[in-house]
Amino acid sequence: MSHVMNTYARQPVAFVRGEGVWLWDENGKKYLDALAGIAVNTLGYNHPRLTRALTERLSSGVLHTSNLWRVPTQEAAADRVAEITGLDEVFFCNSGLEANEAAIKVARKYGHDRGIAEPAIIVMEKAFHGRSLATLSATGSRKVQAGFEPLVSGFVRVPLNDLDAVRQVAEHNKNVAAVFVEPIQGEGGINVSRLEYLRGLKEICDRNQWLFMSDEVQCGLGRSGKWFVYQHAGFLPDVVPLAKGLGSGVPVGACVVGGRAKGVFKPGNHGSTFGGNPLAMTAVVTTLDTVKEEGLLANAAKVGDLILSSLKNQIGNLAADIRGMGLMIGVELDRPCGDLAKKACEAGLLINVTQDSVIRLLPPLILSAAEADQVVTRLAPLIRAFLAPAARAA
Ligand SMILES: Cc1ncc(COP(=O)(O)O)c(C=O)c1O
Repeated sequence: MSHVMNTYARQPVAFVRGEGVWLWDENGKKYLDALAGIAVNTLGYNHPRLTRALTERLSSGVLHTSNLWRVPTQEAAADRVAEITGLDEVFFCNSGLEANEAAIKVARKYGHDRGIAEPAIIVMEKAFHGRSLATLSATGSRKVQAGFEPLVSGFVRVPLNDLDAVRQVAEHNKNVAAVFVEPIQGEGGINVSRLEYLRGLKEICDRNQWLFMSDEVQCGLGRSGKWFVYQHAGFLPDVVPLAKGLGSGVPVGACVVGGRAKGVFKPGNHGSTFGGNPLAMTAVVTTLDTVKEEGLLANAAKVGDLILSSLKNQIGNLAADIRGMGLMIGVELDRPCGDLAKKACEAGLLINVTQDSVIRLLPPLILSAAEADQVVTRLAPLIRAFLAPAARAA
């Protein structure tokens, strides 16, 4: 019996080698990875630049020194994150929930600084922000919260893409300090915010002096075809939590602030032992430079469009909905389809199913057009067979 705590329903497959968007299991079977370790492996597997940079870092012998001293690679990483986000200050941590926890603390501190004794944060139904007590309380899923009550207070929940609901809160609740939105909900089923909605939300934030906080842990860092989803809407948020794709497989997160949130955290307000260590920062610098220099934003947009249109052509009449942006794509079926992830794995394709009935694709940003074609060529027949088992048996 394994001593690994039983918190995941795992498939009995283990990968031992990776190259590009391909993985091999212990028996030598090859898989096309359309999930990237849940939006983490931006550069796929064994990218020569990342492998070289990490190997050099290991050889230097300095993996960690702590934040009690200057960390030059952290300064280099922060410069790059500031440049691509358009914001000012970067706090490095180790995961998405930590980035969001920092964002929630920034919002509360911002509220207190403005004289609000019990600051509230507007959050969205179906959003996922993590599994710490504060972030699961912000998360719009009873399944994630059940059993962990009492929840952290101070969150007001509204539906996504509904500006009137936000206006009503603005009218009745004077404790609001921030709006926290996951602009493309990943775990929630690839629910895409309308760009008009995001712009309207930003206007309401500006009018009320609230922080606009954009959880780009899953949808950010190039996946949408731009560095960040808010850039499609054409404005700057105040707080942007990041993680997943930031280190292309090395655990790292960041809480990035600017605008009204700049300067809110003072020395002593927040910290992390591991956050921003030289190993993780080498991964950040190399990942971001490679995305830029290899044109992976344009690639994500182009190849994502190919997958979306090809899926619509091939199974548009069978799916309840096919939606997404860049390389963040959901195929919703009219019935629970969790089994499809297992069937796809058996067929050598790695995908995931979220919200019971939404097939989720989050491939590495290095996916080529030919590989994108293979994703659809492998997935479409599986969906057809799944929806017509009787026909298949006949
Ligand atoms: C949008 C979003 N925020 C936060 C998190 C939490 O990240 P982590 O699992 O690294 O704590 C996730 C993870 O799926 C996420 O998708």
